[in-house]
Amino acid sequence: MASRKIGLIGLGGHVPARVMTNDEWTQYVDTSDEWIRERTGIERRRIASDDESTADLAVAAARVALEDAGLAAIDLDEIIVATDTPEVYTPDTAAFVQHKLGAREIPAFDLGGSGCAGSVLALDIARHRAVGGHRKILVVGVELITRLMNWRDRNTAVLFGDGAGASIVGAGTSEILTAVAGTDGAQSGILGLESGGTRVPFTPEGAAEGLHKNLVMEGREVFRHATHRMSAAAAEVLAAAGVTIDDVDLVIPHQANIRIIEAVRKRLEVPEHKVFVNLQEYGNTGSASVPLALWEARKEGRVQSGSLVLLTAFGAGFHWAAMLVRI
Ligand code: UT7
Repeated sequence: MASRKIGLIGLGGHVPARVMTNDEWTQYVDTSDEWIRERTGIERRRIASDDESTADLAVAAARVALEDAGLAAIDLDEIIVATDTPEVYTPDTAAFVQHKLGAREIPAFDLGGSGCAGSVLALDIARHRAVGGHRKILVVGVELITRLMNWRDRNTAVLFGDGAGASIVGAGTSEILTAVAGTDGAQSGILGLESGGTRVPFTPEGAAEGLHKNLVMEGREVFRHATHRMSAAAAEVLAAAGVTIDDVDLVIPHQANIRIIEAVRKRLEVPEHKVFVNLQEYGNTGSASVPLALWEARKEGRVQSGSLVLLTAFGAGFHWAAMLVRI
């Protein structure tokens, strides 16, 4: 089988309709619009309604990406869903997405727990599983974080929002040039959930206290590592492709905090107009953040056919991943 260029042949995204402003957070925690804007750059976020679940957001984004690619769900050969906020623990969200979307009985699996880096890693996995461009793979980054967070913890809750971003990986004019990824599991206690799973199983008492929603986060440490890892991964992927930052048309960093994005921008020595930011609208949407931003960047005309785009992401684990893609 002849090998063809493998890239992103369809892009999509979906966010819930309900907008929550920073001011609304003052009903739940001791905070202010000013604090959230200044420390994070976030102005509002989307909140899923009670009748929406993770798979619903994923399917909505997937439909947009399929339409963009000129494909139907039955054309898909595989589905990968990157999420830390799954439909249920078992089976994975990908099973629900396969069914709701009306896809064939194809392989479908989650990349769970890789935090905000999951979707970029999933795109790289899809690229390798596209078998020389002969298969079309749906990759969705999706989070419904606001249902699984502690609304009384001002250190974490104000940062997040719900949403989904989807890409179809397959043969066409677009090309994923190269990707890098890494993990530092020594930092696993700095960002994550303390209970659930086998180490500290759920108990009725713990659930009543909301322990299953208690995100542990050492904000400043996460900030420090995120800045370093996202810029280092970006530099690594540029070097691997034999290009420089000047060749890149747009950098799409994980949308966690405007100060993190700004620090990465400075380290990469890239001008502001070459960095895409939409976190003021959506907050940190976890693994949805990069594919959602990519979709929006293309809608706004900041990414066009032929643009060289650098994706860089970082999240719990710690995991990080960067990718260079010609759109
Ligand atoms: O995708 C990865 C997920 N996580 C992240 O990306 C988070 C990375 N870290 C950050 O973005 C920042 O560290 C934060 C935005 C979380 C915090 O900003 P900071 O400048 O590092 O603030 P800080 O943690 O040093 O806290 C400063 C003060 C503290 O009060 P005291 O101890 O100085 O009296 C906090 O209690 O701000 C307080 N604070 C708040 N005040 C108002 C923390 N959260 C809030 C809040 N509203 N929502």
